Amino acid sequence: MFERVIIVSGPTVEPIDPVRFISNRSSGKTGFHLANEAKKREIQEIIFITGPTNYIPSDVKVIQVETAQSMRDRILNYFDKAKVIVMAAAVSDYRSAEYFSEKIKKGDDRIYLEFVKNPDIIKEIGEKKSDDQILVGFAAETSNIFENAREKFERKNLDLLVLNEISKENPVFNEDSNQVFFITKNETIKLDKMKKSAIAALIWDEIFKIYNQMKVKFK
Ligand code: C5P
Repeated sequence: MFERVIIVSGPTVEPIDPVRFISNRSSGKTGFHLANEAKKREIQEIIFITGPTNYIPSDVKVIQVETAQSMRDRILNYFDKAKVIVMAAAVSDYRSAEYFSEKIKKGDDRIYLEFVKNPDIIKEIGEKKSDDQILVGFAAETSNIFENAREKFERKNLDLLVLNEISKENPVFNEDSNQVFFITKNETIKLDKMKKSAIAALIWDEIFKIYNQMKVKFK
């Protein structure tokens, strides 16, 4: 039984001026299904931290954020008691170096914007987490997918990485079905193509499996 889990979902939105922003096409469906599946398990408190999305689950604690920086801060507020952190958010890798307090005026034919890197949230959590906290990440790769995924798994100190191969046959974004792989410490598991809700259920099965293995280790 988990005391608290955190599910992080949706895109982040990085403002440029009062009316403009950069973001991405993440629908938030995966995080939504993960929260609904979590409700069926023995979990006391589900914290759902999300960027702007239409997919908000009911009967969980919802915290809405916009930027990667605010997403990071809110995760850290709830981090200590969390036994599982699932990072299903599509975090913008960059944000505008400057926030323009006035709307940028139309003028020159070409304008330049400078971007700076956002915090790598999952990497920071991976560095902070203790041995009894489970960290789950996602990766979308187009080439050398297993090599890149394994490298990410190690570098970010994850316990489970859900790997999407993005291709014409498996477009991933905004679809209801998907074909993924689970990367764990000792295994690479190929799942059949299935509904995102079914994948979410299997992700929780895998998390509980990892937890039970940990319990054995700690005895
Ligand atoms: O390295 P990459 O962006 O492919 O890793 C994807 C994973 O890292 C996802 O779980 C995503 O939520 C997380 N991520 C993050 N902070 C970022 C970028 C990605 O936590 N700045």
